[in-house]
Amino acid sequence: MEHHDRVVILDFGSQYTQLIARRVREAGVFSEIHPCTLPAAELKALDPKAIILSGGPASVLDPDSPGLDPAILSWGVPVLGICYGMQLLSKVLGGRVSKATDREYGRAELEVMEGAKLLDGLRSQDKHQVWMSHGDHVDAAPAGFSVIARTPSVPIAAMACVERKIWALQFHPEVAHTDDGDVILHNFLFKIAAVKPGWTMASFVESTVADLRARIGDAHVICGLSGGIDSTVVALLLHKAIGRQLTCIFVDNGLLRVGEREEVIGYLQKHTDLNLVAVDAADRFLSLLQGEEDPEKKRKTIGYTFIEVFDEEARKIKDVKYLAQGTLYPDVIESVSFKGGPSAVIKSHHNVGGLPEKMNLALVEPLRELFKDEVRKVAAELGLPDYIIWRHPFPGPGLAIRVIGEVTTERLEILRQADRIVQQELHASDWYRKVWQGFAVLLPLKTVGVMGDDRTYEHVIALRVVDSLDAMTADWTRLPSEVLARISGRIINEVKGVNRVVYDISSKPPSTIEWE
Ligand code: XMP
Repeated sequence: MEHHDRVVILDFGSQYTQLIARRVREAGVFSEIHPCTLPAAELKALDPKAIILSGGPASVLDPDSPGLDPAILSWGVPVLGICYGMQLLSKVLGGRVSKATDREYGRAELEVMEGAKLLDGLRSQDKHQVWMSHGDHVDAAPAGFSVIARTPSVPIAAMACVERKIWALQFHPEVAHTDDGDVILHNFLFKIAAVKPGWTMASFVESTVADLRARIGDAHVICGLSGGIDSTVVALLLHKAIGRQLTCIFVDNGLLRVGEREEVIGYLQKHTDLNLVAVDAADRFLSLLQGEEDPEKKRKTIGYTFIEVFDEEARKIKDVKYLAQGTLYPDVIESVSFKGGPSAVIKSHHNVGGLPEKMNLALVEPLRELFKDEVRKVAAELGLPDYIIWRHPFPGPGLAIRVIGEVTTERLEILRQADRIVQQELHASDWYRKVWQGFAVLLPLKTVGVMGDDRTYEHVIALRVVDSLDAMTADWTRLPSEVLARISGRIINEVKGVNRVVYDISSKPPSTIEWE
């Protein structure tokens, strides 16, 4: 395998650690996150070309706070400390850190001193906004360090010891609220550390496949394939790594959209020799959902039934040791931090929560460091077609949480027909790719209308279209009124049983994207 210069990020538990890794990847550089407890000898063996110390929630003034082996600073490998990382460098090298009376959180205006290579070439040099999020700060830099930037409230907002190649920032260059954060990270990577770029999504695929092959050996792996982009990419990566030692299980729960099963399964069967088992369990799911109106009970019934069906199928396969999941970074609620190390607490993926425990399987999650848009790039690298790459997220419980109230075959069918029109019109108007998600919801009420000369008394469809980056927050999409008009007109004319369409104009929070 081609060798890449490696940057190691030592994680002190910041919520932004993954974002640092992502920015380094965007710069075309291979990066790895390791817990800050990694012994110095193991870190050295990784041969890092640069080391970044992340932020973190602890205070270096606390005696139990995570530390740094000073040996690391004597290797001559360039080091960049961010926030907690900066305070730690100061502590280890004999500077002074003090507790702020208030936590500073938000934007601050940075004043850059002369000759600061790290802060060269900022496009907005005179009014440079940076993002602060800290309690403590350095108020006396260690001997040999110079102050390279300040803000009105933080006299040492950045410091450096050029000879020792140690640089530190009190603010976060990795977040979007810091102007030119990319310039700062590029300065560190390329001008200071002279790291060679060359890492691409193709390298990600290559190294992930090699790692999976090494880890799994000749064991068997099962993977729940939902038809969504995440599980499809996981399946293809594993297929590349271990071929037919992987079995994918697709559970048709009867809650899918029009054409869903055929599109994904059809594609995979046509283009790969993936071991794929499709289980028809629609009747089982629908009969268990009968009479149930409570959203949480509906979700629980579906989750529980999914686990049962999946378990029954998986037991037919011999020597299974691993369960593969398409967990992405936003699904991981705690980073692999110093508290967790190898046993970091993660949120079980909501679709298969409880499965690994029940089946006593180890987890394989090759996408857990990626964000959704990066998964789409991996998908493109794997040659998946656009209609799979750009498919909107679809929840595990499927249309059941979009048929508000009781789920029946008849109501599902009305929703399916309405949803098909929504998808078609979003595509036709070129809005499909611009939005995070767009779908129809069937409301549990009927309203009066008039068709021709007749009074009607029929269902209401709500249209939900949202913009979002990661589904944690979202805003309703300002769709042009012509598009709204077409969708509404077509649904009312073409879908039997619907005489009214409304548009959901709520943001998340306080509303959620799905209605149940
Ligand atoms: P909410 O409704 O919580 O949705 O704002 C956020 C995002 O998550 C999707 N979603 C799910 N995805 N299993 C999933 O795989 C689920 O149980 C589930 N519930 C919500 C939702 O479509 C949106 O993109």
